[in-house]
Amino acid sequence: MVNLVEKKIEQYIDNLKDEKIKGLYKKLPSGKRLRSKLILKIAKNEQAVDLAAIIEMIHAASLLHDDVIDDALTRRGAPSINALYGNKTAIMLGDILYSKAFFELTKFSDEIAKNVSNAVTLLSIGEMMDVDLTKAFNTDLDIYLDMIYKKTASLIEASAKCAAILAGKNSEAYALYGKNLGLAFQIVDDILDVVSDSETLGKPVMNDFREGKTTLPYIYLYNSLEQKDREKLLFLFKKEASEDEKMWIKEMMDKTGAIDKSKEFAKRLGFEALKAIDEGDIELKEIMKNLIDREY
Ligand code: FPP
Ligand code: MG
Repeated sequence: MVNLVEKKIEQYIDNLKDEKIKGLYKKLPSGKRLRSKLILKIAKNEQAVDLAAIIEMIHAASLLHDDVIDDALTRRGAPSINALYGNKTAIMLGDILYSKAFFELTKFSDEIAKNVSNAVTLLSIGEMMDVDLTKAFNTDLDIYLDMIYKKTASLIEASAKCAAILAGKNSEAYALYGKNLGLAFQIVDDILDVVSDSETLGKPVMNDFREGKTTLPYIYLYNSLEQKDREKLLFLFKKEASEDEKMWIKEMMDKTGAIDKSKEFAKRLGFEALKAIDEGDIELKEIMKNLIDREY
């Protein structure tokens, strides 16, 4: 069924009757399609395919803008649009995908349209928080959780909630599932930045800290270091660390249990997510398991 979503997006891009946009869209790697899979597991009808296409276009638009904001040259193992054609093209392509998605959203009920658009506002606020948080080393867990809720979990929450509305299921329960799934997803992403390698991940590793992003593993690490090591870590914040320095960070993450604690946190959120819905739902359990155990 995810294939139907790809077809729907292509149809929406064709509607624009613009060969340049069509060509640019083809350069975007499709990614994991987590949001589509989630929507289609909750609601299995034509409208769900349409909603999934809209959400994927919004998500793709947000990543186009995010890569400009983060100066990222790769996305999903391929050169980013900003790397290939510059920031202006990346921003405009994002604007086109985003506004076309909203045009198509008007077909849905007010309740669905409001939930999706509110999530996009939160997403944008979350991105702003993420950028602002790079100004200083953040050691506050609640601030980090609030930021990742807005930046990542809000759209996943809205996806699950709106799919449940379409399927006539308990929308609040599915919203809670989506929220916790989204939080766990971002935490796993933040762990992979530390423990993975660039080939597997499709983007540079140990990049968050260089960009000034003190993600969960760094918050745990800082809070369990002695003063001398805290100073060393603070010195490396937002710097291009040498291989030795990166190794030191990884060793300290292992020694202090910062990675294990972060993994535990993501798993706990996973359990919470499954508790919110029918725990016997094998397909939604599978989505969660794949998300926690993923390597990229
Ligand atoms: C990736 O975070 C970024 C997001 C999940 C959200 C980005 C949101 C905006 C730019 C708001 C604008 C929205 C629209 C619809 C135009 P990351 O940088 O932590 O992840 P990465 O490593 O995959 O880049
Ligand atoms: Mg980014």
